[in-house]
Amino acid sequence: MPLPHDFVFGTSTASYQIEGGVTAGGRGRSIWDDFCDRPGAIRDGSSGAVACDSYHRWDEDVDLLSGLGVDAYRFSIAWPRIQPTGSGSVNPAGLDFYDRGVDALCEAGIAPFVTLYHWDLPSALQAKGGWMTRETAERFGEYAAIVGERLADRVAMWLPVNEPVVVTLFGHALGLHAPGEARGFEALAAAHHLLLGHGLATRALRAAGVRVVGTANNHTPVHAASDADEDVAAAALYDTIHNRAFAEPILLGEYPNGMGEGMLGPVAEDLAIISEPLDAYGVNYYNPTTVGAPGSAAVVAASTTSPGEEPPIEIPEGIPFALVPVEAAERTAFGWPVVPEGLTELLVQLRERYGDRLPPIYITESGCSTHDVVEDGAVHDDARIRYLDAHLDAVADAIDAGVDVRGHFVWSLLDNFEWAEGYTQRFGLVRVGIGEGEERTPKDSYAWLRGRISQVRASS
Ligand code: BGC
Repeated sequence: MPLPHDFVFGTSTASYQIEGGVTAGGRGRSIWDDFCDRPGAIRDGSSGAVACDSYHRWDEDVDLLSGLGVDAYRFSIAWPRIQPTGSGSVNPAGLDFYDRGVDALCEAGIAPFVTLYHWDLPSALQAKGGWMTRETAERFGEYAAIVGERLADRVAMWLPVNEPVVVTLFGHALGLHAPGEARGFEALAAAHHLLLGHGLATRALRAAGVRVVGTANNHTPVHAASDADEDVAAAALYDTIHNRAFAEPILLGEYPNGMGEGMLGPVAEDLAIISEPLDAYGVNYYNPTTVGAPGSAAVVAASTTSPGEEPPIEIPEGIPFALVPVEAAERTAFGWPVVPEGLTELLVQLRERYGDRLPPIYITESGCSTHDVVEDGAVHDDARIRYLDAHLDAVADAIDAGVDVRGHFVWSLLDNFEWAEGYTQRFGLVRVGIGEGEERTPKDSYAWLRGRISQVRASS
């Protein structure tokens, strides 16, 4: 089935990954500036200090979006540009920067989709405990009010927090991302405060008169490594932690399996805030996950027979699940399995689990890194074209199966700072000569996507 003619096509980026200009316009420091300073934290020793230099090249990026023919652009606002210390007085230059950026998009006929938190927490808030404290959630609500009041009239959709699960697991449980804390299960406090921040921001945005509020939750369909009870139980636990713990407080107003009971603080009252009704549900999808119990027969077999192409994630001792490489015919440059049908499965599963509580879905991120080579000024990224084509078809299949999916945003418009991987993974439709003048070169996938969008429009 083809995609509906009014399907929203877009691309996504995030402030720290593209902007650079980290000391420009009165921006304060963020936890990612700090984390990049830690020896060994970033694979290639780089940082987002210059990145794609989008702080100075916003108009060039808007021209690229226009040339691509997308309807929407999802970008994030750097909290330390708006409030350099995360609370109190507003930095007018920061607000003006995004105000102009939103105007430029609107003039080009591109709908701005705004993420308020894509991981660049002001360092001053981290010094007071960051997301492990309620205070950060409260400050986040105030920041949302400031930005909402200024941009409510022009922003098409608001996504308060990008991937609270990744912030919790990578940032606070495993220590692989900023702020680099390896707290294991204690990190669940950060999860709760990120969700509370989402709810407080949603309320503040609504009070500021914004039109549409959604999410950008990372989801993965989880499969057990075998039918053995221990693997099935480990997979169910992982599914709870990765998917349900972040969807259910928002959509149902409760934590799964009584998870909230062990948490400190007024969880019941918080859940009423967290479950403020939404207009849209954003899903970021990259691949499915296979999980077993540590030491189970299937896990041992996988560790001895599999080539282990996925980047190994160190899971601390005492954690009751083990990740097993997913079988797939193709892998991305990152080593991630390419499984488009996992996206259909995930979307149908969300619909089955949450029924009428699930608002219309937008795929707020989907994409892959590729091994790009520049040949006579061109980048023939056929692997990205295959990936996107198959994932757009997977979305069409989900729509066919009755799931209300309204749009798809490619991660990413530009090659950019890929967090702990630095610049070693390229996700862009457009190549950026990082550290070589930041020149932009549209890849073959850029022209291909423009064609696919035109086909959908022509089918109306
Ligand atoms: C994040 C992006 C990141 C992408 C690829 C998502 O988890 O939101 O910031 O670049 O995955 O790893």
